[in-house]
Amino acid sequence: MKKKKAAFQLRQLGADDAQAFSILRREVTADNPVPMGLTLEEELTRPLPSFREQLSYPEPNAAFGAFVAGELVGSAAVAWPSKFASSRHKVTLWGVFVSPRYRRLGIARTLVSRAIDHAHATGVLRVNLTVFVPNAPAVKLYESMGFEHCGMEPESIRIGDIYHDGWLMSRRNR
Ligand SMILES: CC(C)(COP(=O)(O)OP(=O)(O)OC[C@H]1O[C@@H](n2cnc3c(N)ncnc32)[C@H](O)[C@@H]1OP(=O)(O)O)[C@@H](O)C(=O)NCCC(=O)NCCS
Repeated sequence: MKKKKAAFQLRQLGADDAQAFSILRREVTADNPVPMGLTLEEELTRPLPSFREQLSYPEPNAAFGAFVAGELVGSAAVAWPSKFASSRHKVTLWGVFVSPRYRRLGIARTLVSRAIDHAHATGVLRVNLTVFVPNAPAVKLYESMGFEHCGMEPESIRIGDIYHDGWLMSRRNR
């Protein structure tokens, strides 16, 4: 059977997208807080200026968004952990999520590829990330894109009464 394809547009996000970014984060967190690493109650306390700041970190930090009919429905971002040359060869992949209404359409794969390409274009060797588990969809996505397991932070987050490990994954530019 032929795979469904979504009509979506990709572009870099900026401070003006903060509100849409917050709305999308709330929708995804309400659906399942574990992948987002915090509860919906905590997410609802996050002020818009903090997202404005996050989305306007100086280049080469970058966040990308997928839009369907003008609505932000997915995102993926890369951030450099340090300004020093000793750490310029690696980035953290963050902010990977897609609205539950638009999943399995290839949006995350396209967004993560875009973020990785952006990092590689600036000479980055490694893209690192953490997945709070269980999260089979995300782990499968990353494995299929060449990320390898490289460690685990036990009991990384606590949602309600349950602790969730954080799996560390890393992808090397070949
Ligand atoms: C994980 C997530 C980002 C995937 O987004 P998506 O747009 O649905 O993913 P894609 O359609 O691009 O799928 C790419 C690949 O990921 C894997 N995948 C995605 N969803 C899956 C699922 N429900 N079950 C199994 N594999 C899945 C598959 O390998 C898929 O490739 P295929 O469709 O060719 O089999 C999405 O489910 C999500 O937003 N989840 C909540 C937030 C989250 O987990 N973010 C990651 C934090 S580290």
